Amino acid sequence: MSNADDTHASAPAKPSAAPAAAPAPKPASKSAGKIAAGKKNEKPLPSKQRRRFIWTSIGAFLAANFLMFLRFFFPRTLFEPTTVFNIGYPSDFSLGVDERFKQLARIWVVREADRIFIIFARCTHLGCTPDWKPSENKFKCPCHGSGYTPEGINFEGPAPRPMDRARVELDAQGEMIVDTSKLYSWPKGGTDQFNDPGAFIPV
Ligand code: FES
Repeated sequence: MSNADDTHASAPAKPSAAPAAAPAPKPASKSAGKIAAGKKNEKPLPSKQRRRFIWTSIGAFLAANFLMFLRFFFPRTLFEPTTVFNIGYPSDFSLGVDERFKQLARIWVVREADRIFIIFARCTHLGCTPDWKPSENKFKCPCHGSGYTPEGINFEGPAPRPMDRARVELDAQGEMIVDTSKLYSWPKGGTDQFNDPGAFIPV
């Protein structure tokens, strides 16, 4: 072999080039960012919504049933107002119509020369509560205009019959006890019960 060949063979091999730098990470493209953001705001799938709706409905149904079950332990109780009243002595009332028990018991106490009776303040047309008009000396129903005498006898308007009277009797002390659950009436074309025992107190 020639010298030239030796020289070439023994010369250290030159580094051919610097090692290539690792490629810099590419910035995420705009489209990739949009996809990521889209995933965050992603709406639940329809099936997921359906499942949530079903469970909510079941929960509401069970809660309603539970409340109805509890309701049995609290029965509805109707507290009826009492129908029996002590209105005092006959001597507490002067002649004419007395209104002091109208609000409490829906009654008027009427004293005449020889008796005391109790008018139940309910219009016989459709059940409104009439007003006592002292200046006109009559009861007047505000609903449809029926008029009644101080004895509760209808004389004008659509009322078909006199107002009823409540039971009244004296107790052992001589006080008057009224019971509005027992009424005496005068049906149209019928006989009046206003003179029956219990319909008045003689004075
Ligand atoms: S309810 Fe009294 S007149 Fe009709």
